[in-house]
Amino acid sequence: MLYESANAKINLFLDVTGRRPDGYHTLHSCMQTVGLSDTVSAEILPPKDGRSIRLTCSDSALPCDEKNLAWRAAALFMDETDTVYDLRLHIDKRIPLSAGLGGGSADAAAVLRLLNKNLDKPLSEERLCAIGARLGADVPFCITGGTCRCEGIGDILEPVKTRPDYTVLVAKDGEGVSTPEAFSLLDAKYGNFSDYRSHDTAAIYAALAGGDVRALADCVYNIFEDVILPIRPKARELKEFMEAHGAVCTLMSGSGPSVFGIYTSDARAEVCAATLRQKGIFAVACRTT
Ligand code: C5P
Repeated sequence: MLYESANAKINLFLDVTGRRPDGYHTLHSCMQTVGLSDTVSAEILPPKDGRSIRLTCSDSALPCDEKNLAWRAAALFMDETDTVYDLRLHIDKRIPLSAGLGGGSADAAAVLRLLNKNLDKPLSEERLCAIGARLGADVPFCITGGTCRCEGIGDILEPVKTRPDYTVLVAKDGEGVSTPEAFSLLDAKYGNFSDYRSHDTAAIYAALAGGDVRALADCVYNIFEDVILPIRPKARELKEFMEAHGAVCTLMSGSGPSVFGIYTSDARAEVCAATLRQKGIFAVACRTT
């Protein structure tokens, strides 16, 4: 059996710079992979009766057919490499669904990486990212990982220099958020972004390069907080809980409703995570990776 880790992402910074005629939004985002992950496992077998992809998942809420991004990633990989296999894929799911943590994108990226690695690397990372971009705006970042400045619709990536990793507490409570609906709420608020002035980003990259977690705390930003926190009060409560219990800052990730807190003490993050889990809330303390 072959295994690949599918790490969640958080957005340390997320602003919208415009809206394209096709409805997609141009972004400026600073994305960061974290230790919270799904595991994708695979068997690559010779074909019996033409191409076949069988997907199973530990979470029965997820579709296991072509509606699943991981399934589509496997199909696209075979199309692009002109290969035919009998693929058995399994996703061991730990990243919450519809949470703004990029779980579906991470699984699709892990499938592409796993197949490429174990089939003698027919595709460069650049090609893998181009295939990933056809699956979803966050997939190229999930292929690259680490810390990246992301522009375009999230598909133009530039790795960012960072000093040592730090601890984040990632938590999610309450109903998920649909990304297209979250973007529609932003459009309604900002008039399709015709006059919107996006935020300056120099300070966040300086803080990351200097490894200064407290300076980083002063410049994290997510435009979606304005429209999602009012309709997901549990996300706001999680932020308030973390701020009262040692987080140097908190922010919603992606289009929410997950939130993360940055901690300078691993022990405090662990205690907070345990307290939230006792209340039945999803919470994991992990490192940035
Ligand atoms: O690319 P992905 O399938 O993850 O995007 C889901 C939806 O989010 C898109 O259909 C679009 O409505 C919205 N979106 C957007 N601008 C982006 C990324 C996503 O409007 N940059």
